[in-house]
Amino acid sequence: LNILIAASEVVPFAKSGGLADVVGALPKALRKLGHDVRIVMPRYYIVDKEKYNLKTLDGSLGVPMGSMGEVWAGVFEGVLPGSDIPIYFIEHEEFFGRKGLYDEDGQGYGDNDNRFIFFSKAVMQLAKKLRFKPDVIHANDWHTAAIPILLNTTYSNDSDFEHTGTLLSIHNLQHQGKFYKGAMDVLGVGWEHFNANELEEYDGINLLKGGIVHADAINAVSKKYAEEIRTSEFGWGLEGLINDKAYKLYGILNGVDYEEWSPAVDKLIPANFDIDDLSGKAKCKKTLQKEFKLPVRSDVPVIGLVGRLAEQKGIDLLAGAISNLMELDIQIVLLGAGEKWAEHFFADVALKYPQKFACYIGYQNDLAHKIEAGSDLFLMPSLFEPCGLNQIYSLRYGTLPIVRATGGLDDTIENYESKSKSGTGFKFYDATPEALNGTVKWAVDVWYNDEIGFDQLRRNAMKKRFDWSEAAKGYEELYSHIIKGRLNSAA
Ligand code: ADP
Ligand code: GLC
Repeated sequence: LNILIAASEVVPFAKSGGLADVVGALPKALRKLGHDVRIVMPRYYIVDKEKYNLKTLDGSLGVPMGSMGEVWAGVFEGVLPGSDIPIYFIEHEEFFGRKGLYDEDGQGYGDNDNRFIFFSKAVMQLAKKLRFKPDVIHANDWHTAAIPILLNTTYSNDSDFEHTGTLLSIHNLQHQGKFYKGAMDVLGVGWEHFNANELEEYDGINLLKGGIVHADAINAVSKKYAEEIRTSEFGWGLEGLINDKAYKLYGILNGVDYEEWSPAVDKLIPANFDIDDLSGKAKCKKTLQKEFKLPVRSDVPVIGLVGRLAEQKGIDLLAGAISNLMELDIQIVLLGAGEKWAEHFFADVALKYPQKFACYIGYQNDLAHKIEAGSDLFLMPSLFEPCGLNQIYSLRYGTLPIVRATGGLDDTIENYESKSKSGTGFKFYDATPEALNGTVKWAVDVWYNDEIGFDQLRRNAMKKRFDWSEAAKGYEELYSHIIKGRLNSAA
């Protein structure tokens, strides 16, 4: 199949979260199945042209932008490292020549509607220019949700897209791309589509909503999340629509790129290790404690936490539980950036409990690897989690996840059963500091007092695999359903 994947971030070029991991890995697995896969992303300022040897594609793309007139996009071409997959970068200095992807200093860019509508349109124009004739365009989240809308409207009679179907993956329903209705001008699909059954919501435009309506199929990134988004608790107002579209809703769990995230081959950690010899892990723990200026002790459990400091990640719960947790003989290592209150709060906790709590406020990929490798336990108290990748990485590193049972966290982690010594981690259900606290205590108690149980759990965890090759087969099947117009999901 000819598959065109459009996304706002792709590893290793630009990343703010798991979306980039997914779009950096899924194409490789699809390629191994024999498909012609191409990727398109914006050329942000941070995408390093020299490092990745990007070449200018001859000729620019004309992108009609309503009353702004025709806006020109440059295109760079490169390959996804470790593959022969072409990746194209849409360049427009004014829109993408900035420090951030979506925001700067916590402030979202005021013209994100124009930026990503422009990008979505440029993807369509690029496909035409390349004469790629995609069988499927796979869009991701609100940033590229305009693509299925455009395909059904502006491009509905275009012979280059005669046989093109669309899939929209929902990695996070909280962010929907809601803008002032003036954005209809640049989108240019006609005001007849500005109605409550398509693009309109509370007199504004909702790009993700329009994408959900117009895509041939939609995919949430775990089975559980595909169920959850049909309820008012997780639907962010779109649950009614999603229920109406349940016939085309799927839930394909993300995979992991084990070339990047495996303790056996990870180049970013102080010592490699694997299931039958954990001496390297002990070294990683020691180095981590040193690096974070915590007492170097092998007789205390280290709990790692890596993630965006956003409400989604349950940071309020952690903040509420912290003084109780600090009564335990544990060490917590946190890496994250995001909401200002949380950055200050956790920096203060580190000052108050220098023997027990350390953090690095910022974004640092190598530290993320070191924390996965050097911790004993890994905490993800998310309020919602479409898939979640860190807990799956943790399994491979023998760092047992403590998770709230929601979305992909619930699908990927099995709760510890002390009798049968089965499971891969520790789960809690209520979104409260008390529940978090209780489960951390439980995990810490197992670490201290049930060595056989903890070791067995770690073996179970390290044996688990969430290979992209499996997930890619799911996508392959879904793409072919889309092409044949045969959807039969009851997610
Ligand atoms: P989300 O996409 O919601 O942020 P995921 O668990 O799917 O959550 O993916 C997060 C990814 O981003 C992981 O690869 C994680 O290691 C990485 N990450 C998040 N915050 C940081 C940070 N501060 N420094 C380095 N990596 C981070
Ligand atoms: C989103 C979700 C996360 C998921 C990632 C990749 O950012 O928050 O749970 O793992 O996308 O699909």
